[in-house]
Order: sequence, then structure tokens, then C-alpha cells
Amino acid sequence: MILDQYQRPLRNLRLSVTDRCNLRCSYCMPEPEYVWLPREDILHFEEMEQLVDVFLDLGVDKVRLTGGEPLLRRDLPKLVAALAARPRIQDLAMTTNGVLLAQQARALADAGLHRVTMSLDTLRPDRFRDLTRTDDLEKVLAGIAAAAPLFRGLKIDTVVIRGTNDDELAELIEFGRQYGAEVRFIEYMDVGGATHWSMERVVSRAQMLQELSRHYGAITPVVEASSAPADRYRLPDGTTFGIISATTAPFCHACDRSRLTADGFWYLCLYAQRGIDLRGALRGGAGADQIAGLIRAAWRDRRDRGAEDRLAARNRAPLIPVDTLRRDPHLEMHTRGG
Ligand code: GTP
Ligand code: 5AD
Ligand code: SF4
Repeated sequence: MILDQYQRPLRNLRLSVTDRCNLRCSYCMPEPEYVWLPREDILHFEEMEQLVDVFLDLGVDKVRLTGGEPLLRRDLPKLVAALAARPRIQDLAMTTNGVLLAQQARALADAGLHRVTMSLDTLRPDRFRDLTRTDDLEKVLAGIAAAAPLFRGLKIDTVVIRGTNDDELAELIEFGRQYGAEVRFIEYMDVGGATHWSMERVVSRAQMLQELSRHYGAITPVVEASSAPADRYRLPDGTTFGIISATTAPFCHACDRSRLTADGFWYLCLYAQRGIDLRGALRGGAGADQIAGLIRAAWRDRRDRGAEDRLAARNRAPLIPVDTLRRDPHLEMHTRGG
């Protein structure tokens, strides 16, 4: 196992399979236009598999497929089947916005995908339209209904934004309960691409807990050791939910995650300014040993604590200006895979 400068292991790989998305969530893609990664740079599934194998050799055992929206790669079940055949992957998951899930859920389950996490920020059609600039709420709800019986431990991720959906927390928990899905509330983060972010719009974990205790009564923390970003809580009736307090109480000290973009750049932190060009190495003819050497050296030097650094910064404002994002779309959250 390789450890970084803070003794954090390299275990968890988030593999973005496309930077394209079919929604335009206000906290991630609020701009009218985007610069996409060039098509010829996007890795073929075989190339992704080759790179994943190197990561598995180095100790990775959790792989999460992300996007943009991963289901925009129509033949995704093929990649899932190839990865599911690698027994060293103990946890093979996917984060999706759910729009295309109803039609793909069965094929993904048959291909061997272990777990699914869905993004859902509101249950109200008018709000959904404002938040995502589409009318696809019905499709997302159908996606959840289709996935729930096929995948154990379905999770629903909700980014909470003041004045937008912060009055829907209990409704979302109740909705998740119907499907046996655990809802996780995520603090609005000032990641690259969140060009409309402001601290005033962040609802902190403390505020979410206060609001939910008013509704449900005493809430107790679930005590567990884990590197997962969510802290879990239990309602009086036993229902659990999570809070990902990435803005007010970051969890960088336990971060074992890294991210590979769809064009093969590897990022050691959600907030990292620069990535490592594994596509260049692979297409330039480097063998698995050489690529492993690159990865090992970078991880050993890793000192990233991006969210903690942001917390320490004064006068927080959107991290990266729009024109800088246009020049390098790798800086966008939707390219990094959330
Ligand atoms: P499991 O706990 O394994 O189910 O997955 P996960 O919570 O790591 O994955 P998911 O895609 O559901 O992550 C939920 C959200 O947490 C992301 O969309 C981000 O908003 C946030 N998040 C995930 N990983 C990180 C991270 O490394 N750093 C920070 N600051 N936020 C993260
Ligand atoms: N703040 C918090 N989470 C975000 N995501 C994207 N942008 C942000 C942001 N600014 C996360 C959400 C979404 C996933 C794909 O990425 O959880 O569901
Ligand atoms: Fe990990 Fe960076 Fe997120 Fe901190 S901000 S938890 S170091 S990815």
C-alpha cells in the first residue's frame, strides 16, 4: 500500500467516463456555454481498463464511475462488466443524475455494478427546472424506482443551497425511506465550476441538524470509523441519513480518493490545480511499470488538503474565474467527476 505525506493510502479511484452532462445544475454548471474535452482525447474503455489495472496493482480497491453524467456513454455496461470481472475491486459504484437510469439499470446490474448513488436536489418540478434547466424530474424519479430493487444500499445525494431547497430536507428523507435509500445532504462547495457560489448560500451541517431535529426530535450520530465523506445520523425511528460537510468541516485528513478524468488526467484532490497526464504516458507507449512509477511517486509526495485550505482562506469567493475555466476545463467539477 502506498502512503502519502500524511499517511493516507491510495485506495479509492473515481473514474470519470465523460465530461458531458445532460443537466445544468446551478451549483456545478451554471454558465450558458462550456468548452468540452476534445473527443479524440477521451479514453477508450480498453485504455481506462489498462489504467485501472495499474491502480489495482498499487492497492486501489474501490472504483466509482462518474461523469459529467456517466450514462451518456451508452455502452457503459461493457466497461462495468470488464471492471466487475476484476476481483481486486471490492466496491464498484457509480454516481449518476438518474435521467437515463430507468432504461439502463437492468443492464448495469446484470453487468455486475455493485452500488449506485443518485443525485436528487428537489422533488418539486418547478424547482427542478430552475436548478437543472431541464424538465427531467419524472425521468429521475423513474430511475430511482428502477434502481432501488436492483442495487442494495442505494444512496441519494442532495446539495443543500440556502433559499433553493433547504426547506425540503425532511421530504427528501421521507422520499428516500420509501425506496430504502439513504439520503446524504452535501454542503454547497466552492469547487471549480461553482461560479455562483457564495458563503451566504451554504447551509452548514449544524444548521441542517438543527432544522431536522425541529422536525423529528433528537438525532443521534452513528459512531463508525470510515474514510467516506459522509457523517451518518439516526432519527428517533431508526432511519439513517448522512451529511457531507465538505465546506465547514472538511475530511481531508482521511482522504484516500483520487480522480481520473475522461481524457486520462489524474488529480490528487478535488481542488488540485494540476493533474498528471496518464493518457500521454499510455499513448506514448509507456508500460504498466512506468505508469505505476509515475503514480507511486506522485502519491508519495501528495500533500493536498484542498477543502481544509479553502476553509482557512479569508473572504471566500468562487475559486476559479469563468475565463480560466474556459481555458482549462480540467478545473471544472464536472470534468473531475464530483
Ligand atoms: P461512498 O461513501 O463510497 O458511497 O461514496 P462517496 O460519498 O465518496 O461518493 P459520492 O459520489 O456519493 O460523493 C458525494 C459527494 O461528496 C460528491 O459529489 C462531492 O460533492 C463530495 N465529495 C466526494 N469526494 C470528495 C472529496 O474527496 N473531497 C471533497 N471535498 N468532497 C468530496
Ligand atoms: N457543491 C457540492 N457538491 C457538488 N457536486 C457538484 N458540484 C457541487 C458543489 N458545488 C456534487 C453533487 C452532485 C455530484 C455529481 O457532484 O453531489 O450530485
Ligand atoms: Fe480529499 Fe482534496 Fe476533498 Fe480534501 S478537498 S477531501 S484532500 S479531495
